[in-house]
Amino acid sequence: MAKDPIRVLVTGAAGQIGYALVPMIARGVMLGADQPVILHMLDIPPAAESLNGVKMELVDAAFPLLKGVVATTDVVEACTGVNIAVMVGGFPRKEGMERKDVMSKNVSIYKAQASALEKHAAANCKVLVVANPANTNALILKEFAPSIPEKNISCLTRLDHNRALGQISERLNVQVCDVKNVIIWGNHSSTQYPDVNHATVKAPGGDTPVRQLVADDDWLNGEFITTVQQRGAAIIKARKLSSALSAASAACDHIRDWVLGTPEGTFVSMGVYSDGSYNVPPGLIYSFPVTCRDGKWSIVQGLSIDEFSRKKLDATAEELSEEKALAYSCLS
Ligand code: NAD
Ligand code: LMR
Repeated sequence: MAKDPIRVLVTGAAGQIGYALVPMIARGVMLGADQPVILHMLDIPPAAESLNGVKMELVDAAFPLLKGVVATTDVVEACTGVNIAVMVGGFPRKEGMERKDVMSKNVSIYKAQASALEKHAAANCKVLVVANPANTNALILKEFAPSIPEKNISCLTRLDHNRALGQISERLNVQVCDVKNVIIWGNHSSTQYPDVNHATVKAPGGDTPVRQLVADDDWLNGEFITTVQQRGAAIIKARKLSSALSAASAACDHIRDWVLGTPEGTFVSMGVYSDGSYNVPPGLIYSFPVTCRDGKWSIVQGLSIDEFSRKKLDATAEELSEEKALAYSCLS
């Protein structure tokens, strides 16, 4: 029997990530090839005409799974009845800007949209915040939507996770799908810590640690980390625009694994509300290694953290605490 459609909200849908993301959702990349969807697309009035153009293209693409499109500049209409909310709307970072520069513009948007989601989304709506500063926008959304369970609010660090997989695959000349269990700890910013200490590569004799295969600690502890940390800035420098196709693809990966589950023995990175695991201060949205089952994520417990890693976990937590304070000062 055909499944009931799932309503998926994309905010900022007339923007460049939105333009890459909505066809992926309509093709089943996010929720599966047998899952019908109804797309809700929100943007602001100056982008209304362009948003309508995206709707026209969705109709023209004749996606079999797409059962309806709501394109609106009304946040209440956009949020009503949605089961999944992908929050992309906001102002992107331009060349030379730090995430903190976009803070004041974006946190006030997330405060306002928190209330709309809380009042009008479906019960148990899962929320993914993509817009920067992603962790802090998600935290503000959580704080101003107190009736949405904190387990349902997350931010995107899967792009950083995928970038780390990509770097290891290129270095070792192996298939990216054979690399797993890298971890992004902390903030979706240049203080994030891409950690390969638990990562492996599939080989005929069994999974082999990345550290054993790369055997160049200077690269793993230096250039690899900075390349992943700075990849967003490198894309902006090259394209004069921030990443879009890779961000859209990572958003699909994030929601797909959250809803449908992570493969056995595999963990992924998600920005989630800290419960104090790994001595990360509670009260922050922090990227952890997680596994997902039955629509719920759990932080992977018991991984060893060496002294080098500890310092990096603490540094990115420190930055998030500062961002949280700055966000509140922007809202007051
Ligand atoms: P964009 O400027 O192309 O699109 C953003 C869209 O949001 C625009 O259409 C704009 O009109 C809309 N918008 C602005 N205010 C809004 C509001 N209040 N409600 C609804 N829509 C609103 O930007 P983009 O390149 O698509 O990037 C979107 C965001 O995602 C940026 O904040 C960017 O920094 C961030 N980003 C995050 C990641 C990640 O991995 N977390 C990766 C890439 C980009
Ligand atoms: C990215 O990681 O590509 C985006 O978050 C863009 C940015 O602002 O770095």
